Amino acid sequence: MRSVIPDYLAEALGEVESDTSGEPADYIPELAAADPERLGAVFATVDGEVYGAGDIDTEFTIQSISKPFAYALALADRGFGPVLARVGVEPSGEAFNQISLESDTGRPFNPMINAGAITAHSLAGQEDMNPAERVERVVRGLSAFAGRGLRVDEAVCVSEMEHAHRNLAIAYMLRGYGILTGDPRAVVEGYIRQCSVLVTARDLAMMAATLANRGVNPLSGERVIREPVVRQVLSVMSTCGMYDAAGDWATQVGIPAKSGVAGGLIGALPGQIGIATFSPRLDSHGNSVRGVSLFGRFSSDMGLHVM
Ligand code: DON
Repeated sequence: MRSVIPDYLAEALGEVESDTSGEPADYIPELAAADPERLGAVFATVDGEVYGAGDIDTEFTIQSISKPFAYALALADRGFGPVLARVGVEPSGEAFNQISLESDTGRPFNPMINAGAITAHSLAGQEDMNPAERVERVVRGLSAFAGRGLRVDEAVCVSEMEHAHRNLAIAYMLRGYGILTGDPRAVVEGYIRQCSVLVTARDLAMMAATLANRGVNPLSGERVIREPVVRQVLSVMSTCGMYDAAGDWATQVGIPAKSGVAGGLIGALPGQIGIATFSPRLDSHGNSVRGVSLFGRFSSDMGLHVM
């Protein structure tokens, strides 16, 4: 096992390496400057074994992969009722940065698109927390999933904020509907700090393994969230984690998953394994091209499709 799995992973990486389609995200200079050839994959089992190949200890920003974890924290801190009243669980079938609000209530369709994720960020922690305390709650929560203290990339954070016009517009709309109650700008700043947390593929695999292990980090043994929250989060990842490519993903790969624009991609198989890949070249949906190929291969080679 010790070398069979890393050998398998290295072979899989070798196979996708020749695919140079897609480009790193270019909406901020820090992401555009990413080395497009970085490539890594990690398997973390629920009993704490970690296997990897390639660039598994290179740091990059978590971006949208923070969304399911922040949603988990919101559910844990506020309870299902209050969170569901403000963020739905229906696939939007639209790109991640679309406004995608229910027409009568203004409730975002789901917590994986930006509108829902901004709302979920505002619901993490206790209601009376100030924005800095809320961010701290989120960064500490993400760290508990990873099993180590994570930090924010300040340069990415500043740059993201300079280009956050669309997220600010979404947040002001949400404030207009009463879905957000605080200062919309402060909520977007908090959401952007959350997206700017630095992780490695190894961290992401542990975070996914914590979901796969029903809320307990397999290495630290810490119960990060309760099982009903895990079930809710994995369900939403299944239906909405890959945005407007969620249907293709569900049929072809069939693993609850989440992607981020810095090139990370996670999948979590309940009771079995957390998987993470890293490759910055993105397709038109904002999902990692090589990451999607790798997951397709893992799913068919090992029969991981849950349906
Ligand atoms: O909200 C944004 O625009 C980014 N900071 C995060 C977006 C993201 O990762 C989308 N996923 N592929």
